[in-house]
Amino acid sequence: MSELEAYRNLRLAATQSASDNMSRPSRSVEVDSALAADLVAALPSRRSVKYYLPEPISVDWLGGIQPTLQSIDQQLSGGRAALRFICAFSNIEGRTPGLYELGTDGWAQMSVPLESSDLRTMTLQPEFGDAALIVVLVGSLVDAVEHEGPNGHRQLLQRAGAIAEVVWLAAVSEGYAASIFAGFLPAELKSRLGFDGIDSLQLIAIAIGMEDAERLARAEREAMGALG
Ligand SMILES: Cc1cc2nc3c(=O)[nH]c(=O)nc-3n(C[C@H](O)[C@H](O)[C@H](O)COP(=O)(O)O)c2cc1C
Repeated sequence: MSELEAYRNLRLAATQSASDNMSRPSRSVEVDSALAADLVAALPSRRSVKYYLPEPISVDWLGGIQPTLQSIDQQLSGGRAALRFICAFSNIEGRTPGLYELGTDGWAQMSVPLESSDLRTMTLQPEFGDAALIVVLVGSLVDAVEHEGPNGHRQLLQRAGAIAEVVWLAAVSEGYAASIFAGFLPAELKSRLGFDGIDSLQLIAIAIGMEDAERLARAEREAMGALG
């Protein structure tokens, strides 16, 4: 095949793939309209905050939106194994620090020891370990690939990304500061919870707390100083 023919074939394949994508139904999801309005209102003030004060926060709002998060997941997954919500409570009103799972019956503390001070060594960026709450979204790569083939991993990431954005905006709507981030070091999840990265794969995490604006200003001054 000449170079020109190969180029023509590639263009044809690309055009075909683009038109396939356009004819595919969009994956919009139904969300409770009051919550949707809160999330939209929070959007302009949503920014990534990575420095947190040692102040407690509530998790009632997160428990309250659990059915919505689960519904978004089901709508996007078409009935695949649900994502799991593993939450590290470091500084939560009325709760002892520890690892909790948020499920259909609410919060369940996991029988895994966790001190608030552990979080700084469980994250690659220790500043995220100061957050009052870290929410980790966990999925099954085995289930996703078994049912969706090679697209399984990408679809898991899409589901987790959509839910993480909702958690982030809901936290902002509550007056908290937050950031999506990579989550816990895989070795920590393996040793503490037995997560193997296949049946139980951390997809994304959200750190949530009260913003430490002074520390952010200091970090920005230091960064500017380093630039000269
Ligand atoms: C999928 C995703 C993963 C991210 N992971 C990290 C991370 O591991 N560490 C980090 O410092 N920021 C992380 N961020 C936050 C980005 O750094 C931040 O959103 C970006 O700097 C833009 O800032 P803004 O959100 O305030 O506009 C992540 C953001 C997204 C959307």
